[in-house]
Amino acid sequence: MVGFTTSTCLVLSLAALSGTRTTAFQPVARPPASSCHSGTPSVSGPCSTNTRRHPRGWVMAAAATTADAHSTSRTSSPSAAASASSLPTFDLNKYLLDKKDAVESALDASLQVTSPQVAKITESMRYSLLAGGKRIRPIMCIAACEMAGGTAEDAMAAAVALEMIHTMSLIHDDLPSMDNDSLRRGKPTNHVIYGEDVAILAGDALLSTAFEHVAKHTPSHVPAERVVSVIARLAASVGATGLAGGQVMDLECEGKKGVGLEELTWIHTHKTAALLKVSVAAGAILGGASAEEVEACETYALDIGLAFQVADDILDVTASTEALGKTAGKDLNMDKTTYPKLLGLEGSREEARRLVGEAKAALGRFGGRAAPLLAIADYIVERKN
Ligand SMILES: *[C@@H]1O[C@H](CO)[C@@H](O)[C@H](O)[C@H]1NC(C)=O
Repeated sequence: MVGFTTSTCLVLSLAALSGTRTTAFQPVARPPASSCHSGTPSVSGPCSTNTRRHPRGWVMAAAATTADAHSTSRTSSPSAAASASSLPTFDLNKYLLDKKDAVESALDASLQVTSPQVAKITESMRYSLLAGGKRIRPIMCIAACEMAGGTAEDAMAAAVALEMIHTMSLIHDDLPSMDNDSLRRGKPTNHVIYGEDVAILAGDALLSTAFEHVAKHTPSHVPAERVVSVIARLAASVGATGLAGGQVMDLECEGKKGVGLEELTWIHTHKTAALLKVSVAAGAILGGASAEEVEACETYALDIGLAFQVADDILDVTASTEALGKTAGKDLNMDKTTYPKLLGLEGSREEARRLVGEAKAALGRFGGRAAPLLAIADYIVERKN
């Protein structure tokens, strides 16, 4: 892994930002944008599955962190390049590296030990929050904000919050009472280092700090009603119609026979795709997107979320433990229902391609400004380990 070049400028500007959001949330007449509270689609599928909890950690190829990535100009796919031949080539590797640098700096600045009393919990939170990863949710949030007409700064607090929430979910997923994993991204998991009790509390604290962070650190020029809408959506994405609900359905289905595609998809729509959905929707809202535009972003994200899960299932079958940074083949060992089990490897690859095509079509209305999200969509199914 390439070390992160800490952008001092960004750290400083974020430090300067802290406390600038002094505008209290005044009661505001509901703007058109808040009609985009569409929430998670309430698909109520029967629960007759045999699926198991699955870590939501994205296991992408390390392309974005290879040393030569800066000099590699990579188009997202031949077909994308052909259909966009009149547009400048989009350099996804450079984009991901640049955005990731900014996100890493913001993450580092977001959690500091402020007194000896909070040293232990803060260290535990920082250990997992700064443990690397592709930061794909924050990057997609920023990309959506810029696509909708906003700036990276407008979305950065939400981007940090998304990674805090994601990190919470990983810490809790790894706990002995859950997946009981001792390895995450090639490093010991949080409870292995800090103990189960502290790991649970670090997850709790990361979750609540996420909301605090959005409320305090979104630039004050962003209308407060957009911020409230983002906080509400973030909260919903973790609740009964999001991560937690998906996880519980997964638990209930554990050990049951005859899992079908519909059930598997329901679970992953809530466990995996809900956080991606809010990532893109939050960015779009902060950037000033209309309700229809936010909806298009959500369609994109749900498809990408499922495509990611299919790709993750494929990788789990095909990649080695070393390349993954987690225990490979665990899903098979645990007799878990996966897309490859239901569709076969080739069928799964085909399904991933179909989902990505649908996702990209949803962003048609944004034209060339969708280039980063379109390229990320391709990247998700093309990643290889
Ligand atoms: C977790 O895994 C370890 C081995 O890695 C095992 O000793 C322990 O009993 C497991 N805990 C639970 C709750 O399953």
